[in-house]
Amino acid sequence: MRADIIMLPGDGIGPEIVAEARKVLERTAVRFGHEFHFQELLIGGCSIDAYGEPLTEETIERCCRADAVLMGAIGGRVGQSLWYELPPERRPEAGLLRLRKSLRLFCNLRPAKLYSELRNACPLRTEIAERGFDVMMVRELTGGIYFGTHSTEELDGELVATDTLCYRESEIRRIARKAFEIAEKREGRLCSVDKANVLASSRLWRRLLTEEAARYPSVRLSHALVDSTSMQLVRDPAQFDVIVTENMFGDILSDEMAEITGSLGMLPSASLREDSFGLYEPSGGSAPDIAGQNVANPLAAILSAAMLLRYSLNLTTEAECIEEAVEEALRRGFRTRDIAERDSAGGQRVLSTSEMGDRIAEQI
Ligand code: IPM
Ligand code: MG
Repeated sequence: MRADIIMLPGDGIGPEIVAEARKVLERTAVRFGHEFHFQELLIGGCSIDAYGEPLTEETIERCCRADAVLMGAIGGRVGQSLWYELPPERRPEAGLLRLRKSLRLFCNLRPAKLYSELRNACPLRTEIAERGFDVMMVRELTGGIYFGTHSTEELDGELVATDTLCYRESEIRRIARKAFEIAEKREGRLCSVDKANVLASSRLWRRLLTEEAARYPSVRLSHALVDSTSMQLVRDPAQFDVIVTENMFGDILSDEMAEITGSLGMLPSASLREDSFGLYEPSGGSAPDIAGQNVANPLAAILSAAMLLRYSLNLTTEAECIEEAVEEALRRGFRTRDIAERDSAGGQRVLSTSEMGDRIAEQI
């Protein structure tokens, strides 16, 4: 197969971890006889530095013409970076949001799985970590409060800031269907998360999810409130199979889910359109504090590359091959700093970002 893949390394640790994902993809292409063409473009702070804006029209167009996009991370340190002295719509985050919206990537998948080798890195109670968990978060990505109106004005002598949260029926139904389809292929348990005791948008969400459930008899739908879900995730994550939720709740819960897998550096993500096109990125951020030191964990980026092969190129065997290589590396005791045990009785080796990429590539 021949495929055009756009790389958007971005800021902070982005370039380092994307380089490792590319290494693994290149190795996979050789091993399975594919031809992947890579093109690197700018997004976020580095694009502001080069072009004065976090995302150019040209970059959006080139992403549109590709088969898939692999991103690193965007942004710097608020308060330290000059990027945050710009108006909000010209900051790094605005570039990512604009890209998601322009490419119509409404369905964000964030799989949080506790690898048995990383049980000691899991911050939950030992017996919970022993049980393990494997939760797929389906986050609505192009609606809700992220894409409402945002304004600050002066009213009656004081500042008033307003953000609006709006969901259309069609937006809720299409993410619901994706989530049901995903649940059908897993254990058939779908938990829809909302705040229906307070928000009108959540009440509509709950009603439409219940209606859609009729089309998927093999899936058991439950509803839960977001505050309670955040508590249940640390109490007993194994109770969840698939979680579907709106944009901001998904943003918050997915960081929590990442942390309980042992490290934010382990969580990949896929942002999908109605067809097979998608953008793939680690769920973690740009980690400016460790950027440029060759210590960041590249596994989330490498696992995102596996998701790219699975969802956009339909290369299931190749995706599984990468995922198995990651598990094998963990089994052999290879760790980046974030997932290394502090006083491991031996058997573990702390690797740099590029060494970890090498180990995975060798396994392909
Ligand atoms: C994420 C990030 C983004 C989001 C930021 C960088 C805009 O936190 O992908 O989870 O809020 O969606
Ligand atoms: Mg987030």
